[in-house]
Amino acid sequence: MAKILKRERLVPNIHLIEIEDPQIAKKCKPGQFVIVMADNFGERIPLTIADWDTEKGSVTSVFLVVGTSTHKLSLLEAGDEVPVFVGPLGRPSEIEKFGKILCAGGCFGIAAIYPIARAMKEAGNTVITVLDVKANFLLYWEDKLRSVSDEFYVSSRDGYYDCKDFIPKTLESVVKKEGKIDRVISIGCTYLMYTCSEATKPLGVKTLVSLNPIMVDGTGMCGACRVTVDGRTKFACVDGPDFDGHLVDWEELFIRRKSYFEDEIESLCYWEKKNFP
Ligand code: FES
Repeated sequence: MAKILKRERLVPNIHLIEIEDPQIAKKCKPGQFVIVMADNFGERIPLTIADWDTEKGSVTSVFLVVGTSTHKLSLLEAGDEVPVFVGPLGRPSEIEKFGKILCAGGCFGIAAIYPIARAMKEAGNTVITVLDVKANFLLYWEDKLRSVSDEFYVSSRDGYYDCKDFIPKTLESVVKKEGKIDRVISIGCTYLMYTCSEATKPLGVKTLVSLNPIMVDGTGMCGACRVTVDGRTKFACVDGPDFDGHLVDWEELFIRRKSYFEDEIESLCYWEKKNFP
């Protein structure tokens, strides 16, 4: 069991959860993830680590409410306990002085990219952050990300910020404006990471994505998180989650992510009817 120290709604469908676990907090590195279960009957949910506090002994993640398990997680409060909390899992992101790094994030990926941007800045890189939101009220952690960025852009469909374009187009114009970019790191929904990778391919900029396939054990035993990268089978939980976005078989990933789509809808309808008749 692990105790929840904080659960907070950041924007309408995105929540933050801070869980107490000094052992995990001590070992966290940017790019890694944890697996959490909201109760004994839910799924094992992989969540990228968004921050950690070694003194407090806590780990923070940010998640999008999508199906039954994330709905359950969003209803927990400080003081509640989760039955399963394991990590840190996955390989840490590669952090070193590359030169100019562009961090592109959207949705839950805004938080997930924060520790990477911070570590890249600490390693002496110039950090350009580009965030994508559908509307201004969906942006969160702006101050945190600004504090670790040399340049900061927000693309918002309502035109509230720098531009209205979806992130790939923004990425293209930022790359053209900023000159040589040594590496792009993109985190968010699969479609966002796919489109970022497509946008940077013709520009020849190496692009890392943090893949989010369906996971079960998170330790390389079950094969649920299988992805194909450069024609080879990889397990995102132990070989990743970071991979070269230009080498990922995106079509296969999109199909595999939809495997339980209908079951998820059925489960959520059943759960909502039972709990909110
Ligand atoms: Fe089971 Fe990766 S989640 S092998």
